[in-house]
Amino acid sequence: MQLTTLLPLALSALGLANAAALEKPANWTATGWNVECSPGGCIYEFNITGAKTDNTPAFSTHCEGISPNATVCDLKNITARVKPVVNPIWNVAVQHKWSIPEPQYNSQSDYWQSGSVNVTETAKSFTIVPKSLYGVA
Ligand SMILES: *[C@@H]1O[C@H](CO)[C@@H](O)[C@H](O)[C@H]1NC(C)=O
Ligand SMILES: *[C@@H]1O[C@H](CO)[C@@H](O)[C@H](O)[C@H]1NC(C)=O
Ligand SMILES: *[C@@H]1O[C@H](CO)[C@@H](O)[C@H](O)[C@H]1NC(C)=O
Ligand SMILES: *[C@@H]1O[C@H](CO)[C@@H](O)[C@H](O)[C@H]1NC(C)=O
Ligand SMILES: *[C@@H]1O[C@H](CO)[C@@H](O)[C@H](O)[C@H]1NC(C)=O
Repeated sequence: MQLTTLLPLALSALGLANAAALEKPANWTATGWNVECSPGGCIYEFNITGAKTDNTPAFSTHCEGISPNATVCDLKNITARVKPVVNPIWNVAVQHKWSIPEPQYNSQSDYWQSGSVNVTETAKSFTIVPKSLYGVA
C-alpha cells in the first residue's frame, strides 16, 4: 500500500451524488458506558453503533479494554482508546476502518473515520461526532 496518497477523499472517488453526505456524517451512539478501576488498572466498556450512510458501512459492536492503550473491539473494524482527562472525565476515541476491493486495479481502497468525546464516568451513554472520511488508495 502506498501511504503517500493520503488525502481527504475526492467526491469522484466515492461516486457521490452530492457533497452533503460528507459534510454531515452520521453520529455514533454509545450505550452501556462503564469504567471500573482497581489496582490493576481501569477497565472500560461500551457498545457503539454507527448508521449506514452513502459512504460508510453500518456497524454495531461491543468495546472493552484497559485504559489508556488502544484496543480492538469485538468487531475488528473498530478500535477504541480511553484515556483519563481529569477525574471523573474520560476521553473516548473511536476509529472505524474498512476496505473496498478495487478489482480493476488488483488492489483495495482503505477508508477510516474517527472521533472522540469527553465523557463523565457516571454517564450511561454518549455520542461521538465522527470527523471527515479519509481514504488511502
Ligand atoms: C450529532 O451530534 C451533535 C452533538 O451531539 C449534534 O449537534 C448534531 O446535530 C448531531 N448530528 C446529527 C446528524 O444527528
Ligand atoms: C452490548 O452488546 C452486547 C452484545 O454485543 C449485549 O449483550 C449487551 O446487552 C449490550 N449492552 C448494552 C448496555 O446495550
Ligand atoms: C500499553 O502499551 C504500552 C506500550 O506498548 C505497554 O508497555 C503497556 O504494558 C500497555 N499497557 C497495558 C495495560 O496493556
Ligand atoms: C469491516 O472490514 C471489512 C474489510 O475491510 C469490510 O469488508 C467490511 O465492510 C467492514 N465492515 C464494517 C461494518 O465496517
Ligand atoms: C477533552 O478535554 C481535554 C482537556 O480539557 C481537551 O483538551 C480536549 O480537547 C477535550 N476533547 C474533546 C473531544 O472535547
